[in-house]
Amino acid sequence: MTGARTAGGRAARLRPATDGDVEAVAAIERASFGDPWSRDSFASLVHNPDAFFAVADDGAPLGYVVAWFVLDEGEVANVAVAAAARGRGIGARLLDAALDEARRRGAAQVFLEVRESNAVARRLYESRGFEELGRRRRYYRAPVEDALVLRLSLPAGAAG
Ligand SMILES: CC(C)(COP(=O)(O)OP(=O)(O)OC[C@H]1O[C@@H](n2cnc3c(N)ncnc32)[C@H](O)[C@@H]1OP(=O)(O)O)[C@@H](O)C(=O)NCCC(=O)NCCS
Repeated sequence: MTGARTAGGRAARLRPATDGDVEAVAAIERASFGDPWSRDSFASLVHNPDAFFAVADDGAPLGYVVAWFVLDEGEVANVAVAAAARGRGIGARLLDAALDEARRRGAAQVFLEVRESNAVARRLYESRGFEELGRRRRYYRAPVEDALVLRLSLPAGAAG
C-alpha cells in the first residue's frame, strides 16, 4: 500500500492492521458511531484471512477500513476516519484500498450499508460508482434509522 501527502503535510501510510492497532481503532470507532463495534470484534479481524482490515497511519492510526469476502462477493463492513483527520482524502483512500482488494480476490460485486442520513459517506460511495439496491428498515440502533444497501459491480477480469 502506498503513502501520500495529507493536508496536514505528513504522509499517511495505508497498511494492514496489526494487534497493536486495535485500541486506537476501537477508540475512533466509538467516537464515530452511536452503535460501535466492540474492541474484540476488531481484534478477531486482524488474523482473519477472509477479512481485509487496513489502517491509515501517520505515526498513529487515523482511520481504518474493514471488508470481507465470500465466494465472488465482497462487503465493505466498516470505514471511519478520526474526526480531526477527515476531509483530507483518507476515507477515499481506505475505500479504494478495499475495492482494490476486492478486484484482486476476483469479486464480481461489492455491497455495503449506509445510514440514510450519512450524506458524506453516501457521496463518497457514489463517487466510486456504488448504486442503491434497496433499504433495510430500522436497521441501525442509536439512533434507529434505515440502512440503504449499495452495490458496486466490478467488471470481470479487472483483477490486478
Ligand atoms: C465517511 C468518512 C469515512 C469519509 O472520510 P474522509 O477522510 O473525511 O473523506 P475524504 O476526505 O476521503 O472525502 C471523500 C469524499 O467524501 C465526501 N465528503 C468528504 N467530506 C465531506 C463533507 N464535509 N461534505 C460532503 N461530502 C464530503 C466527498 O464526496 C469526498 O470526495 P471529494 O473530496 O472528491 O468531494 C468520514 O467522514 C467518517 O469517518 N465518518 C464517520 C464514520 C462513517 O460515517 N463511516 C461510514 C459508515 S457507512
